[in-house]
Amino acid sequence: MRIGVIGAGVMGRKHAEVIARNPNARLAAVADPGSRALAAEHAVPYFSGHAALLAAGEVDAVIIASPNAFHVDTALACLDRGIPSLLEKPMATSYAEAARLVQVAKASATPVLVGHHRRHHPAVKAAGDLIAAGELGKLVAVNGTWLTKKADSYFREPWRKRQGAGVMLINLVHDLDLFRHLCGNIVAVQAKVSNRTRGFEVEDTAAVIVEFENGALGSFIISDTVVAPWGWDQATEDDPTFPFNPTISCYQIAGTRGSLAFPQLARYHHEALSDWTQPLSMAFVEKATGDSYSNQLSHFIDVVRGVVEPYVTVADAAQSVAVIEAAKLAAATGGSVEVSTITNLS
Ligand SMILES: NC(=O)c1ccc[n+]([C@@H]2O[C@H](COP(=O)([O-])OP(=O)(O)OC[C@H]3O[C@@H](n4cnc5c(N)ncnc54)[C@H](O)[C@@H]3O)[C@@H](O)[C@H]2O)c1
Repeated sequence: MRIGVIGAGVMGRKHAEVIARNPNARLAAVADPGSRALAAEHAVPYFSGHAALLAAGEVDAVIIASPNAFHVDTALACLDRGIPSLLEKPMATSYAEAARLVQVAKASATPVLVGHHRRHHPAVKAAGDLIAAGELGKLVAVNGTWLTKKADSYFREPWRKRQGAGVMLINLVHDLDLFRHLCGNIVAVQAKVSNRTRGFEVEDTAAVIVEFENGALGSFIISDTVVAPWGWDQATEDDPTFPFNPTISCYQIAGTRGSLAFPQLARYHHEALSDWTQPLSMAFVEKATGDSYSNQLSHFIDVVRGVVEPYVTVADAAQSVAVIEAAKLAAATGGSVEVSTITNLS
């Protein structure tokens, strides 16, 4: 399959690596107004913008990895041309913008898969199956952490310091998307955010409380400016860019019959009498091997071939954008925000 990459920065390069490892795909073209380097390295046609790439007829599908603010218009152009796309997260910088794409995608036969790649991780699949089978009982409390330090040089790209970026839209959207995927829809949010450490227009740190549709409560703490080991990237070994720490869990999911430390999938339960004076038994839940980026690309190839529907649709991903927007509004107003106030656009 001939795949074009639109936006050849950090993530566009990552996708090019993943494509190179897949026997069923090849990088066929690159569009990026700022750099010809990736196209030159792979000796493929270069275009300065997505419109020229889509018009050239060199690709069967594209991966959109441009800065967040360009996602919706680029995906709309793909739909207009009938070219399937894998659209990086966040799919949009606001729910209203996301809804524009959802509406057009709904009426189109051309698929759009949103790049919430973590959903394709084997530990996510195993955790989801366990929760859906009721092995933890009724979900009650969920906790998550993503604390790490991004290099100061990462923020030389101006878009990463401005509205439309920030640790909530860039990173927290991954985690809350997984919370939604594993534990159910999020209906209300409270939050505090801070930009005190980096001093940018956008936040570097946030603490968020969520209420799930099923009544469970969740909390999440996130910062891109601290020296700490707790977060998906360090815990999962999903991406060799990040040093692996096998001892830390990034999510703890607790129910009336047991709990789960993720991604180790250490499942805790009581054998007989269930009370806190009783010893807890622990067993590791089995999971498949593989990384989420490779699994996502294999899935995308099947989507383009028409074998399967997108695992992460734009309508689904739009809800994750809405949760982030609700959290931002909650932080700005100091109150609790129902996610429906964001998604109810009328
Ligand atoms: N799935 C993940 O885990 C993950 C990880 C990192 C980034 N991302 C997402 O990938 C996207 C890109 O992030 P990044 O860190 O690679 O950014 P980046 O700044 O490193 O790269 C963006 C590239 O897009 C180019 N560009 C700018 N405007 C463009 C346009 N209109 N059309 C095409 N290309 C354009 C820039 O020249 C640059 O080369 C963001 O949406 C980000 O949220 C996802």
